[in-house]
Amino acid sequence: MSPQKIKIGVISALREEQAGLIEVMQDPVTLKRGMRNYVSGRLWGIESVCVLSRIGKVAVAATTATLIESFGVTHIIFTGVAGATVKAVRIGDIVVANQLVQHDMNASPLFPRFEVPLTGLSHFYSDKALSTLLSQAASQFIHQEFLETISEASRQEFFIDRPVVHEGLIASGDQFISTALELNQINDNLPDVLAVEMEGAAAAQVCFEFGIPFAIVRTISDNANEDSPVDFVKFLEKIAACYAYGIVRQFYSLLKEEKLLSA
Ligand code: ADE
Repeated sequence: MSPQKIKIGVISALREEQAGLIEVMQDPVTLKRGMRNYVSGRLWGIESVCVLSRIGKVAVAATTATLIESFGVTHIIFTGVAGATVKAVRIGDIVVANQLVQHDMNASPLFPRFEVPLTGLSHFYSDKALSTLLSQAASQFIHQEFLETISEASRQEFFIDRPVVHEGLIASGDQFISTALELNQINDNLPDVLAVEMEGAAAAQVCFEFGIPFAIVRTISDNANEDSPVDFVKFLEKIAACYAYGIVRQFYSLLKEEKLLSA
């Protein structure tokens, strides 16, 4: 594939998870399809389409399929927030998915628990090259921009000291996890999960089915417990946008140097 043919789809569920990107897009053109605004143009010189999917697996599956079929994107990245499921992952940390699973998929006894019927798969792998770039972008954001973009007051409010970038399994479901009971069920059934959210695994399944490489990055907004409704809203209001913009900007600057995508 030649570099000119690359067209990146950038998806987030909510406005705060993708703030600032449309504003810096060159020659933006907005098209409405199925209640979503798809904004096509160039981000730092690279053909891109930005869209807000809204929340949940169906919403993101429809958006992802439209991005691929109607807008011809060749690669997809998803940026947003997630709840942490283990102590080692803290609010303000960043998780880049190497695999994704739908924690609410259960067609047993017809199919094994978590398996997406007729795919033979429960876990969907993200693209290694794209995910590596996103991890590097996240690290660069933390080391080069974090202190100047996130105010001391916000860092103190959320006890964010030195954020860490993790790579691992993310679980998605049509459920906002906000009780110990819900969290324990996920941990018991899927002990390797680092974070929970409501879209990633659905986007991953659609990308798998269309053969489109994808990567998913999530900033931790809450601990998927009784505090999560309050933490989630405050984190979205005050912090999520700075992370999302910083990570995506770093990602595009790495992408421009990258030979892999143009091979
Ligand atoms: N996204 C961010 N926090 C979440 C949570 N606790 N449950 C599901 N999705 C989330």
